[in-house]
Amino acid sequence: MKIAVGCDHAGFDLKPTIVDYLKEKQIEVLDEGTFSRESTDYPLYAQKVAQDVVEKKADLGILICGTGIGISIAANKVPGIRAAACSDPYSAQMSRAHNHTNILAFGSRVVGPELAKMIVDAWLRAKPQGGRHERRLALVARIEHGETLG
Ligand code: RB5
Repeated sequence: MKIAVGCDHAGFDLKPTIVDYLKEKQIEVLDEGTFSRESTDYPLYAQKVAQDVVEKKADLGILICGTGIGISIAANKVPGIRAAACSDPYSAQMSRAHNHTNILAFGSRVVGPELAKMIVDAWLRAKPQGGRHERRLALVARIEHGETLG
């Protein structure tokens, strides 16, 4: 499995913890930056990681900014991306099981390193569930393609 990881300056200090944690689990990491604490713009890294996922250069993506919110909003603008900002393991697990998230986001100003690792674990352990969830995600995809539902 390969995971693309990206962050802005706010997520920079937390990124190595996550990269190392993934590597400990024998997961290959594609590090898309940022590579310094210099102020930068989270959409740049959201787009890189999102494109890695839709172009299948990575299986999944993880994004870190101050809150996880801006960077997940930006990633969700790339068609085919389902990104969720999660601050707890339960949300992370359910985002994968019910919403088939292909990008997990969190905020370095919201969660500490140990909680971040628990969130990553819960997300990676969860299995996307089919059935009604597939149906709902198919509706989401139709919105993405500009259709008006019902
Ligand atoms: C940067 O200060 C901060 O706004 C950014 O990391 C993120 O939290 C935005 O959603």
